Amino acid sequence: MSDRTDIKGTIGILTSGGDAPGMNAAIRAVTRAGIFSGYRVMGIRRGYQGLIEEDLFEMGPRDVSDIVQRGGTMLFTARSKEFMTLEGQKRAKATCDKVGIDYLVCIGGDGTYRGAMDICKLGVKCICLPGTIDNDIACTDYTIGFDTAMNTCIEMIDRIKDTEMSHSRCSVVEVMGRRAGHIAVNVAAATGAIDVITVEMPYDIDKICKKIIDQKNTGKTHFEVVVAEGVGHSEDIAKYIQEHTGIDSRATILGYVQRGGAPSCYDRVIAARMGCYAVELIGQNEANRVIAVKNTKLVDYDIQEALSMKKGYDSHLHNLLASLSL
Ligand code: F6P
Repeated sequence: MSDRTDIKGTIGILTSGGDAPGMNAAIRAVTRAGIFSGYRVMGIRRGYQGLIEEDLFEMGPRDVSDIVQRGGTMLFTARSKEFMTLEGQKRAKATCDKVGIDYLVCIGGDGTYRGAMDICKLGVKCICLPGTIDNDIACTDYTIGFDTAMNTCIEMIDRIKDTEMSHSRCSVVEVMGRRAGHIAVNVAAATGAIDVITVEMPYDIDKICKKIIDQKNTGKTHFEVVVAEGVGHSEDIAKYIQEHTGIDSRATILGYVQRGGAPSCYDRVIAARMGCYAVELIGQNEANRVIAVKNTKLVDYDIQEALSMKKGYDSHLHNLLASLSL
């Protein structure tokens, strides 16, 4: 541990919930900007569970070398059941007191924000960064990892289209988004899908089948339907399409490939900007804030206010598919 006496305070960093590409870039930014601004920085492994178990270490600038380009999270992640109890939260707070953590930077999704709010109530100052591929955090236009995940999806779907085209098939491709169709609607538009099925909008499978038959009659030979994970049943959807159109149909669930891989330029830069912003907020002695992107600018909200917001859905883009897939 550092024996510096001139430090302004100690920042603990953790990642929690599902990992997302760009989390490492955020860890690096908070670490380096924190040290640059005169703070001691501690990395906490396995999210709130690591805080409970005092699984942490002091980080210097070299500890975050060579991670900006890597997916996953060097701090590991977890969904801690123990932290959901008051007892667990008190143990986490006891670690902060023992180690001298004044601020926590918590990177993750809604569940991470709720955890931060709980420990804030016990007196630990938290700043949250949005990190999830799903882009399902209401207060922000954008979450770290979303851009990379979409780019991975389009790369995978482009490959599927090669074989779908060669065999004159219909591909039903399920993309991640347990509660949200943001990945689905964007990749559908980006890959020329005939339609997209998400939890946010009603759909009629018979209309999709009719569209496929109508387009087959105009000479189209291969088709793609994107399904959001929250809707599920992609195997059944493929079967139904095959039975009602006569077109050989296959379902592909893209799964965890979407969560890994090198972060895109956008994810690295937004993570860096958010990490530095977190340290700025700490410098202003702000607490219990979440950082968000609004109309390309970084802003911050009270955690509770952020959690009470309702996420919008790009129904305009969804509806555009009707004309784009003619
Ligand atoms: O990271 C978000 C997400 O990818 C969801 O879309 C998905 O349902 C979920 O995580 C699955 O995560 P896990 O299997 O790790 O619980």
